[in-house]
Amino acid sequence: MKILIAGSNGMLGQDLNNELADDHIVIAATSKIMDITNKKKVLKYVESIKPDVLINAAAYTDVDGCEVNVEKAYAVNRDGVENLTIACRENDIPLIHISTDYVFKGNSNTPRLENDELGPLSIYGKTKLEGERTIMKNHDKYFILRTAWLYGYNGGNFPKTMLELSKNHDKINVVYDEIGSPTYTPDLAKGIAELLNSDKYGIYHLTNSDSTSWYDFAKLIFKIADIDVEVKPVTANEFARAAPRPSYSVLNNEKWKNNGFTPLRSYKDAIKEYIHLLKKEEN
Ligand SMILES: NC(=O)c1ccc[n+]([C@@H]2O[C@H](COP(=O)([O-])OP(=O)(O)OC[C@H]3O[C@@H](n4cnc5c(N)ncnc54)[C@H](OP(=O)(O)O)[C@@H]3O)[C@@H](O)[C@H]2O)c1
Repeated sequence: MKILIAGSNGMLGQDLNNELADDHIVIAATSKIMDITNKKKVLKYVESIKPDVLINAAAYTDVDGCEVNVEKAYAVNRDGVENLTIACRENDIPLIHISTDYVFKGNSNTPRLENDELGPLSIYGKTKLEGERTIMKNHDKYFILRTAWLYGYNGGNFPKTMLELSKNHDKINVVYDEIGSPTYTPDLAKGIAELLNSDKYGIYHLTNSDSTSWYDFAKLIFKIADIDVEVKPVTANEFARAAPRPSYSVLNNEKWKNNGFTPLRSYKDAIKEYIHLLKKEEN
């Protein structure tokens, strides 16, 4: 199968490339090769490649930055997605698109279903929701995968930040009143690979299973890494950031499982593997 990945240089994009390259022809498009905000170029490029499927891992993902760079956020996360969708429609190929738990308000305490009420709190969440809407409006063959709290080898992320901070801090403040499911990008990439031969189009929630707070996740990271540092619980309000975040954004993965796709392992197993790999690299 010939697969075109938009945003191939990102954290998930690189793991997708690693996951798919052995069994498929992967065309890895960075923003330099295919700026998704440039409609003409997108249409021309997709037409020239003639992929069997397009995976969109490109997005403007700086959640706090989106509050300031609102135009850019809409240009990439809504208009760019629209351009890719139209290219997929014109070439009659499926689009696999990645969305986020931040499309939810996060004021409930049960795992969110695909059709639950939406209500993004941040500009990032709003632009990602508009991205979802433009796909549904313009094409039939789509998978929208909402995922959450990503981390992997190839990008800045929460576990890496914690490990870095522990090098020169004895005490680290971490938010305890935001609950979610940390998700390991190589695991997510495996899940995405399962969609390639499927026509069970629609919206799916896909994260590593089980949930935690940032605070408990940080404590687990230090326990696995065998690092002695004091983790102090603070509220999201105390920990000033530009964008508001949902306080509870666990995603219910039942639809994924009920459609015959393989559930992802617990975040506890994934983070163990990740920390051990980072430690191995260090030695
Ligand atoms: N990170 C998370 O915690 C999280 C949580 C839930 C959902 N998601 C979603 O998961 C997906 C992957 O996230 P990620 O963390 O892997 O993202 P990332 O590491 O920030 O990578 C995003 C990629 O998007 C590309 N990009 C940005 N603007 C572009 C443009 N105009 N044209 C083409 N490419 C452009 C960048 O390409 P260049 O590097 O080539 O400039 C970058 O490599 C995104 O859809 C994100 O919204 C992420």
